[in-house]
Amino acid sequence: MFTIACGETKKISMQKSKTWKCSVCGYIHHGNEPPEECPQCSSSSKEYSEERDKQKLKFNGEKFDILLINGSSHRAHNTGIMVNFAEEVLKKNNVNYRRFNLNELNIQHCWCCYSMRDSACTYPCRNQLDDAPALHEMIVDSRAVIVASPINWNNMSARLKDFLDRLTCLQNLYLLKKEGLTTGKVVGILVNGHEDGGMKTALDIFLYFQQMGYVLAPFGFVYRTHGAQYNAKTDDDFFKNDDILKKEVDGIVSNVIETMKQDLEANLKDKIFPVSE
Ligand SMILES: Cc1cc2nc3c(=O)[nH]c(=O)nc-3n(C[C@H](O)[C@H](O)[C@H](O)COP(=O)(O)O)c2cc1C
Repeated sequence: MFTIACGETKKISMQKSKTWKCSVCGYIHHGNEPPEECPQCSSSSKEYSEERDKQKLKFNGEKFDILLINGSSHRAHNTGIMVNFAEEVLKKNNVNYRRFNLNELNIQHCWCCYSMRDSACTYPCRNQLDDAPALHEMIVDSRAVIVASPINWNNMSARLKDFLDRLTCLQNLYLLKKEGLTTGKVVGILVNGHEDGGMKTALDIFLYFQQMGYVLAPFGFVYRTHGAQYNAKTDDDFFKNDDILKKEVDGIVSNVIETMKQDLEANLKDKIFPVSE
């Protein structure tokens, strides 16, 4: 708040306008509050954050249990609701976790150095310009990953695919006969959509992780679809109040936690023969 003295007596009070950015499409809005609906991409105000200088993502190197990834274009819509449910279960179980919404991060597409020459794809990744290297380190220093995605064209979101493609540097360790850094870690998968492709999407996501030596938790993925007739508002109400979804996410997250407690990563060390592409 600042005040302008006007003449001798008049004082005008003005609120300093804030700058808000949509995390989905990058639209910039000036005002005290974000717009209720993004004028450019129709996302809700929940996708807006106050614009600040963005620092590259860093990891402090402290080991933790579970990396929770929301792979949706929206951080706070249907996939986000599933991730919120998952977060509640992690909190209830005192699990040391970190959550990231990919739409808030800068993840460039894979440079595909591997396609030039297999030894050109190195870990750490040669692309150190964005937020992926910090996530790579977190993958290595966590014991399990829970990934959530909407179904887009019977597949995962493009954002998630860009991120998973960037894991090639970890998978390539096995191809280059170097020590793998992910064997025996655990994965769980959450998928939502309107009508179909849930199972395929979950398996497409799993393929990445199995190539890195991850183990799918028993009953380790869930998908939920509810029909294409809904719009953003009714979608939101449906997913938030869907007891089946809540129960299923609860089950998947618990299964990941229990599998993680078996410490397969330590128990299988040096006993696994990597069969990767
Ligand atoms: C480009 C695009 C493709 C989609 N393709 C499918 C699909 O193949 N199958 C499906 O069930 N839903 C599909 N949907 C619907 C989304 O999966 C659904 O709206 C989802 O809840 C969006 O998640 P979000 O709210 O986190 O963005 C598609 C949506 C978009 C935008």
